[in-house]
Amino acid sequence: MTKAAVPTRRARAAKRPFVAATFAMTADGKITTREYSQVDFTSREDKMHLLRQRALADAVVVGHSTLKADNVRLALPKGELRDQRVAMGKPPAPIRVIVSNEGRVDVGLRIFESTISPILIFSTTRMPRAYQKALREKATLHLSESADVDLAWMLQQLQRDYKVRSVACEGGAALFRSMLEADLIDQLNLTITPYLFGGGAAPTLTGVSKAFLPASIRCTLTDMRTVGEECFLTYRVKRRPGSS
Ligand SMILES: NC(=O)c1ccc[n+]([C@@H]2O[C@H](COP(=O)([O-])OP(=O)(O)OC[C@H]3O[C@@H](n4cnc5c(N)ncnc54)[C@H](OP(=O)(O)O)[C@@H]3O)[C@@H](O)[C@H]2O)c1
Repeated sequence: MTKAAVPTRRARAAKRPFVAATFAMTADGKITTREYSQVDFTSREDKMHLLRQRALADAVVVGHSTLKADNVRLALPKGELRDQRVAMGKPPAPIRVIVSNEGRVDVGLRIFESTISPILIFSTTRMPRAYQKALREKATLHLSESADVDLAWMLQQLQRDYKVRSVACEGGAALFRSMLEADLIDQLNLTITPYLFGGGAAPTLTGVSKAFLPASIRCTLTDMRTVGEECFLTYRVKRRPGSS
């Protein structure tokens, strides 16, 4: 059963949308292989789970590396999930948001072939002019002067300018880690799949960084179910001690 993303007091108080991240990982904690190649290690049920989480959100956010590696459209297929949204008075699919610091986003990627929902790109003024020109035909650009995208600011813009109340973060690890470090994740939907990849260079949920997180992050398990050989976990991510 799909759980609705209910904005927490933390998200409301911070004037930002509720953020739920969805990942699948192997039993040894890997989200992809060392080569970051397209690797299919999840079931149809997990793929539906990802789509259900996407369908719950007003916006879906993805890091540039995941977009390049997986070349996803971030859309919703025709059918029940779209129909349910429309019946609730929502657009057929969530706004699609790409995060890139350097801004070298290839306009030939498949996401730009679909017009199902608006595409926003949050990047910096480092984005080369030629890319800006090509991308403006397909997407709305939000370019900040800072070296990196300020993710808290991005969420505030989404709420203020696009009325986004809930965000589905679809990774990858670098984006997820940055959002965790900034205390911007409210929920983690995690599928554990029956594989072992091994490999120190293969990323976990928080990437390949050997560095600890600034502080360990406590989660509360709020739901758990198994379907076939996969385990679907839902965690509420607790506020870090000392964070504002
Ligand atoms: N198993 C799963 O559930 C799952 C889910 C998602 C992804 N994946 C896999 O994860 C891999 C990609 O993950 P990844 O960790 O390499 O990359 P990522 O998180 O998808 O993307 C990182 C990129 O996002 C941009 N970015 C902009 N602001 C950022 C910020 N504040 N913090 C972090 N990134 C920011 C940068 O793009 P620029 O370089 O353009 O500046 C950065 O290089 C792929 O192989 C994908 O298949 C697996």
